[in-house]
Amino acid sequence: MDFVYNLVVVAHLLGMAAVVGGYAASQPRVSELMVWGARLQLLTGLALAGMASAIDSLDKEPDNAKLAVKLVIAVAVAGFAEVGRADAKRGKAVPWMTHAAGALAVVNVFVAALWQ
Ligand code: HEM
Repeated sequence: MDFVYNLVVVAHLLGMAAVVGGYAASQPRVSELMVWGARLQLLTGLALAGMASAIDSLDKEPDNAKLAVKLVIAVAVAGFAEVGRADAKRGKAVPWMTHAAGALAVVNVFVAALWQ
């Protein structure tokens, strides 16, 4: 089960690369890559949190406060990315929404790494 968990961690890190890298490459517009990265973060993050809590053999002790903060931020990232992408498709770029999604994704990287 460790292997499966670690594969989901890989997907989580690739999703992070898609949101942050997509933001760096496409700002001030939201790209398709950013949106898919934001969706992947929600799915893989929830899967990791669920597995870490439910599977004893993984030997994880998830910090629920940290995960709750990450979830709220990730929902905001996905929301800004979805709405920003819909606007970009209609030819109406809303730069602040792109920057909000990109910056909040970076904030979540800080939360992931610094909140011990
Ligand atoms: C934009 C959204 C997100 C970003 C950029 C992000 C970023 C990261 C990064 C860089 C790591 C690896 C560093 C570390 O292990 O401490 C990580 C790990 C983790 N993330 Fe996220 N995350 C996001 C959303 C979420 C969400 C919504 C959840 C669940 C509610 C979540 C749960 C986890 C868990 C459980 C780990 C630990 C994996 C391990 O066992 O090492 N993440 N995240």
